[in-house]
Amino acid sequence: MDNRPIGVFDSGLGGLTAMRKLVEAMPNEDLIYLGDTGRVPYGGRSKDTIIKYARQDIEFLLGHDIKAIVVACGTVSTVALEQISGEYDTPIFGVVEPTAWKAAKLTASGRIGIIGTVNSVNSGAYDRAIQRFRPGSYTFSKACPLFVPLVENGRVNRGDRVIELVVEEYLSELREQEIDTLILGCTHYPLLSDVISDFMGSGVKLVSPGEETAEYLIKKLRQADALAQPDRPGRHRYYVTDSTEGFERLASLFMDSDISGEVSQTELF
Ligand code: DGL
Repeated sequence: MDNRPIGVFDSGLGGLTAMRKLVEAMPNEDLIYLGDTGRVPYGGRSKDTIIKYARQDIEFLLGHDIKAIVVACGTVSTVALEQISGEYDTPIFGVVEPTAWKAAKLTASGRIGIIGTVNSVNSGAYDRAIQRFRPGSYTFSKACPLFVPLVENGRVNRGDRVIELVVEEYLSELREQEIDTLILGCTHYPLLSDVISDFMGSGVKLVSPGEETAEYLIKKLRQADALAQPDRPGRHRYYVTDSTEGFERLASLFMDSDISGEVSQTELF
């Protein structure tokens, strides 16, 4: 048993897709979420900058005596993690492997789409992982840089003409490729699942990196006998680097509970 918290971080709201899964599946675990909302988006920044931000995010969470970290950010996972994860003793879980594994398992045709930030798509990390899990697959990728700012502004719902237009603009090419599985390779994108699914059609299965990685972490903690005691209520804290207000409102909607008393502003060094 290990009652220390699990740390989860992202540039903004996207990592809540992992957080929600962890809250639902592991009500006994203490969870600490960091959203670097003062510097979102990470997706188009240089590799050096992303590595610098990732180290600061990890070191902030390590300051809370955590037992594991979920890098609930596709950009950090694809661009920085390989280089920096060896610097820390605490186990760090990125989103690429669990997500690619799930997509490889779900696809029948072997035709898999990948959408993500510019850096994640250019890294080719999801494509390489898919080839390892299902050699001979065809992957088709597309960067969707406008999705993150739209999600951060709450433009996520069916019927919102702006997000529907942007989804059409980005995903039309992919729809023509007859994929049967689509990796939402940035953790923000599952907040757009309804709109994306409406556009791609019911024959395309969507894979959420945050959720898959949360499931993978649970499995690993169970195997290592490192879950929290089952008879305790888990506590949740959220930290953001910009003001708490906008985050509290959107995060409460997404988490389906009022988290406003649990959010604090912090600085990263
Ligand atoms: N949610 C993140 C990702 O998965 C970050 C997006 C961004 O900050 O550009 O890539």
